[in-house]
Amino acid sequence: MAGCVIGVDVSTTASKVLAVSLQGDIIGLASSPHHISSPAPLWSEQDPAQWWDATCHSIRRLLAEQNLAPDSVKAVGLTGQMHGLVLLDAAGEVLRPAMLWNDGRSTRQCEHIRSTLGLDRLVSLTGNDAFTGFTAPKLLWVRDHEPNIFAATRQVLLPKDYIRYRLTGEYATDKAGAGGTLLLGLKARDWDETILEALDIPKAWLPDTYEGPQITGTLSRKAATATGLNIGTPVAAGAGDQAAQAVGTGAIMPDLWTITLGTSGVVFAPCAAPYCDPNGSAHAFPHALPGVWHMMGVMLSAAGSLQWYRDTIAFDRSFDALLNEVGGIEAGSDGLLFLPYLTGERTPHADPLAQGAFVGFTPRHSRGHLTRAVLEGVAFGLRDNFGLLQQAGLPPPHEVRISGGGARSGLWRQIIADVLRTELVMVEVPEGAAMGAAILAGVGSSCWESVESACHAIVSPQEITHPGPEADQYADPYEAFTALYRQLKPFFALRS
Ligand code: XUL
Repeated sequence: MAGCVIGVDVSTTASKVLAVSLQGDIIGLASSPHHISSPAPLWSEQDPAQWWDATCHSIRRLLAEQNLAPDSVKAVGLTGQMHGLVLLDAAGEVLRPAMLWNDGRSTRQCEHIRSTLGLDRLVSLTGNDAFTGFTAPKLLWVRDHEPNIFAATRQVLLPKDYIRYRLTGEYATDKAGAGGTLLLGLKARDWDETILEALDIPKAWLPDTYEGPQITGTLSRKAATATGLNIGTPVAAGAGDQAAQAVGTGAIMPDLWTITLGTSGVVFAPCAAPYCDPNGSAHAFPHALPGVWHMMGVMLSAAGSLQWYRDTIAFDRSFDALLNEVGGIEAGSDGLLFLPYLTGERTPHADPLAQGAFVGFTPRHSRGHLTRAVLEGVAFGLRDNFGLLQQAGLPPPHEVRISGGGARSGLWRQIIADVLRTELVMVEVPEGAAMGAAILAGVGSSCWESVESACHAIVSPQEITHPGPEADQYADPYEAFTALYRQLKPFFALRS
């Protein structure tokens, strides 16, 4: 059958739009950047209007550059940054800038949620503890600090669901993304009345929830004019970016875990039942397909750490040039350690006040050591999260796949395989989350039979990285890394 499906990823850095043929080949990608603002320490915000402009621009460019007729687009699937808070008034107008997943201002509101419900009850209902990046604590922050905006609120949306609203006029969300609000019942896969009542949040403010492949609406006339797509094009629920990335890399069944090395660093484990960590230290959400859940650990600055390091300390070098300087430096960076907590941390340390640190300089250290220490610090953070999921009782995976911008570096993949002592299978999809959203849209519009068969046909695992001889050299540096966070925690807390 001729035609294609489109995956739209409303990510933190850009609106990315990927067209995939009905044979599963990538036709093209267009991307338009977003800017983040941080008007105060710990704040991270974006204007939803910029997402909409960037999405329309990307879709139009993709259609033009790939010479795609609007008729050929069978469906659109949505994905995007999770946990963001978008508030709309009764007229559907945005009330304030969106508060993002890496916004750390809501510590007090997290404490309030924990003390109102009790940690055990909170975890037994939602599968999760309250994290500052999650949506519910941010909504309570608005209630506490911006009462006029709270009073005018009539609708609460996640970032990609704001784009859905602009595309279709419908208020809807996917169950995987909804899990990241802290308002969803994990077992029931729908809004939890007990939590909503306890926190005094009206259910009417929340959109209906759908499984990833379900169609939530069709393109309006206004959106067709803005994007160049046809009126009536179906829009699938899609999924939050991590669940969509898992679909795009084929992690839809238990025992196939994935690591995503993007701005954030994620260890993702599909589950056949609504498992969670009894302390709520790891995340537990529905997956993007019915009857499957997932657990995950999220570090906030993974490839984001390397990006910051390049932009600020080594800005005269390309990434390749920097990584080349690491050659010859031994595992452990000669005792130099890097803590990757530039934007605070989520798991396993729920600590928005945590900060990045280089510790252990001597005159022996060169820029190559600094670079290696950054790569190793991120790998140690991933190991923390790997351990977290295993401590929560998940059996070790049969296969671990790695994807995301940072995974393109063979050196970084080797360091991670060594630190985790695990084989890593590379899956190179230019945009895994957008690919996942496209797959969900293709299944929802009956272009493909099921998520399983589409993943099987489309996702092709590539090179395998085996743990090497340096794996044995990481025991002491990893121990020093974990001890360093404990030592510095009181210092970080002085920021509050
Ligand atoms: C997942 C998370 C991040 C954002 C980044 O819990 O917070 O992956 O979704 O896009």
